[in-house]
Amino acid sequence: HNKLILDTDGGVDDAQALLMLIAHGRRPDAITTVFGNVALDVATANILAVLATVGVGIPVHKGADRPLVQPLIDATDIHGEDGLGGAPRPALTEKPSDIHAVDYLRASFRAAAAKGEKLDILMIGPLTNLALALRTEPGITAGIGQLTIMGGTVYGRGNVTPAAEFNIYADPEAAGIVFSTPLDIVVIPWEPCLNHPIAGDRIDAIFAGIPASTARDFSQSLAGFIRQGTIERGGADVLDLVDPLAAAVLVAPDIVTKSIEASIAVALAPGPTRGMTIIDPSGRLGTPKAKIIEEVDANRLASLYAVSAAYPS
Ligand code: BDR
Ligand code: CA
Repeated sequence: HNKLILDTDGGVDDAQALLMLIAHGRRPDAITTVFGNVALDVATANILAVLATVGVGIPVHKGADRPLVQPLIDATDIHGEDGLGGAPRPALTEKPSDIHAVDYLRASFRAAAAKGEKLDILMIGPLTNLALALRTEPGITAGIGQLTIMGGTVYGRGNVTPAAEFNIYADPEAAGIVFSTPLDIVVIPWEPCLNHPIAGDRIDAIFAGIPASTARDFSQSLAGFIRQGTIERGGADVLDLVDPLAAAVLVAPDIVTKSIEASIAVALAPGPTRGMTIIDPSGRLGTPKAKIIEEVDANRLASLYAVSAAYPS
């Protein structure tokens, strides 16, 4: 495997995604944070809290605190004011690095390219940090391996607006830069994240089988918060895995049962389409194609989740 960088906006499912990576042997070599679900400083503290909870040390670099062009938005309505849905958190002993995320990304990809190597990156928040790195040092593409992104929609059904998914809507210009760059991109859009729910009683059984620990309580609290939110929005008692699905596709690519190759454009005009991803398998957009995940093996996803929920026990 290439080394891995995780770029995250520190929300409830970002925490679960980080646990999914660590539990399945794709521990990131570094984590870069970005505004998004919550403000940058909260996102950064949340990631440090996840690492402290499971006793894992990974350097954390703070990145962009706002989008490239538009005003800042967040998703505290979904993730809670603290971004972790009130999950019990330890006192922090570690601090973020003094090196800015964009500087870190540029230096890391540049160094990898110089050695003839590549670094993979998983992005589960707005794409601002990588867009800034690509705009200021285009040559870093030579050091970028697989870029896995949770973001956008494949059938035009968004979450933050009818047409747009949060990670793209939060910085559409940044997403446009990333999707127009020739890279090995794998996208996990919003709709497939809703098509592989894990039944609430299966989640209860998973946690009932894990010995009590701070880490178990933390994971159970994250899952419980997401389940509760889904019920309050009129859904069934299920756990939907969003960012953790992207992490699962990275750690176990063979869970994918259906995908398409397509170019992706991002709608930038003001109005109801802003932040929408336009998916073009036909090649008419003429831009690089990404692999877009549509379906995975739901049972295997649930099993991968069960292992990550139990980490480190
Ligand atoms: C995305 O936005 C956030 O709420 C989630 O963490 C995920 O990255 C889903 O639209
Ligand atoms: Ca996220």
